[in-house]
Amino acid sequence: MTQYATLTIDGKELQLPVIEGSEGEKAIDIRSLRQETGFITFDPGFGSTGSCQSAITFMDGEKGILRYRGIPIEQLAEQSTFVETAYLLIAGKLPTREELTRTSVLLNDFSLLHEDMKYFYQNYPSKAHPMGILSAMVNAMRSFYPELIDLDEDLNNTFLRLISKVRTMAAMAYKISRGHKTVYPRPDYSYCANFLHMMFDNPVIPYEMDNDMVRALNVFWILHADHEQNCSTAAVRVVASGKVNVYAAISAGISALWGPLHGGANQAVIQMLEQIQKEGLTIPQVLAKAKDKNDPFRLMGFGHRVYKTYDPRAKIMKKMCDLVLGKQRCRDELLKIAMELEDAALSDRYFQEKNLYPNVDFYSGIVLRAMGIPTNMFTVMFAIGRLPGWLAQWKEDSLDPLRRISRPRQIYTGETLNDYVPMRDRF
Ligand code: ACO
Repeated sequence: MTQYATLTIDGKELQLPVIEGSEGEKAIDIRSLRQETGFITFDPGFGSTGSCQSAITFMDGEKGILRYRGIPIEQLAEQSTFVETAYLLIAGKLPTREELTRTSVLLNDFSLLHEDMKYFYQNYPSKAHPMGILSAMVNAMRSFYPELIDLDEDLNNTFLRLISKVRTMAAMAYKISRGHKTVYPRPDYSYCANFLHMMFDNPVIPYEMDNDMVRALNVFWILHADHEQNCSTAAVRVVASGKVNVYAAISAGISALWGPLHGGANQAVIQMLEQIQKEGLTIPQVLAKAKDKNDPFRLMGFGHRVYKTYDPRAKIMKKMCDLVLGKQRCRDELLKIAMELEDAALSDRYFQEKNLYPNVDFYSGIVLRAMGIPTNMFTVMFAIGRLPGWLAQWKEDSLDPLRRISRPRQIYTGETLNDYVPMRDRF
């Protein structure tokens, strides 16, 4: 039986239906509100607004739960691969052995880039941020690879092409930025191994593939693969709602991810830890800065809009630090600072009262550094991982019968009717 919420405005009573999700989350359906009352809702940052119904990812911020298609993130990180997880997110089910093999073969077939695309890179200034380059390159793909999307297919070729080529583009951007020869993918390598090969192999020092590094990269990308209606995913859905092509929508997602409050936080965390080390700041000094309302400094990698407890991805990422640092037989002083900072913040009243815990980005930079990934590529790594999530959300959005163009309202606070003043009369 449908439950209703009653709203009384200007003496008028309105019955608004309540929608309930499969995990018991409830929402008040306000679609008729403006038409019935003339009122709109006001929710900057959308903290209390559900923009869609989605069957892809479930998060419980209070309990620290994250599941893709119902499967706990811990199980996927332990047992799955990034390619299999991408399939799960987009197709809505785990692949059979044949489906997974076919996916891997196609990812391999699509991994080369049109040679003309190389000229894009060559004309960028050498200091250009790779996120800006990646966003432009993905947008440009429309001209090179027209969309052929069959939404009935579990995982269509346009999606596979994007997932495959984004990895080649990222590695190519890195090689060109260093003035090195680009390395082509190898058909005998898996998706993650091929990325490491394209990044680090060179004619004089061949890259020795290490299964633990490949595993760590799989886990890193699985942890980033989707996170329901976050800033970049919402950007993909909003841009897609105007019926633009999929490349343009994904390019918008990459741009949204770039910001330091979102995906750019992994780079910002390392820069913060380096600053602490370089300036010899003590942990209490850092916490005092983060708590000072007159100081724009925030503890990067801490806090989350949804998680009010430890981000489950951060727990797994912390374990990955031990694996990759152990493998490289190195001690990273930044990890020591990060762990001290975490301990101090978790026992500090300010952070406790505001439920600020480490998020996925707090330890991810340390994992990436240990893999040899340069700091300015960190957010690109996040983008490659998030791509299957964006595609899954794009597909779901395209098939949603309730889909309309995204067009929020506003409360206007500017001048009321105001006459035009000719130039000669302006003071
Ligand atoms: N350091 C210090 N104080 C913080 C932090 C932080 N990292 N995060 C939140 N706060 C404080 C705010 O100052 C605010 O205090 P107030 O109520 O006294 O004004 C309160 O906690 C609530 O913060 P909001 O910014 O309102 O929370 P919101 O949900 O809008 O923002 C966000 C979440 C952007 C993640 C925020 O916690 C932040 O800036 N964190 C640092 C950046 C970061 O790590 N981003 C990665 C997020 S995960 C991801 O996108 C992959």
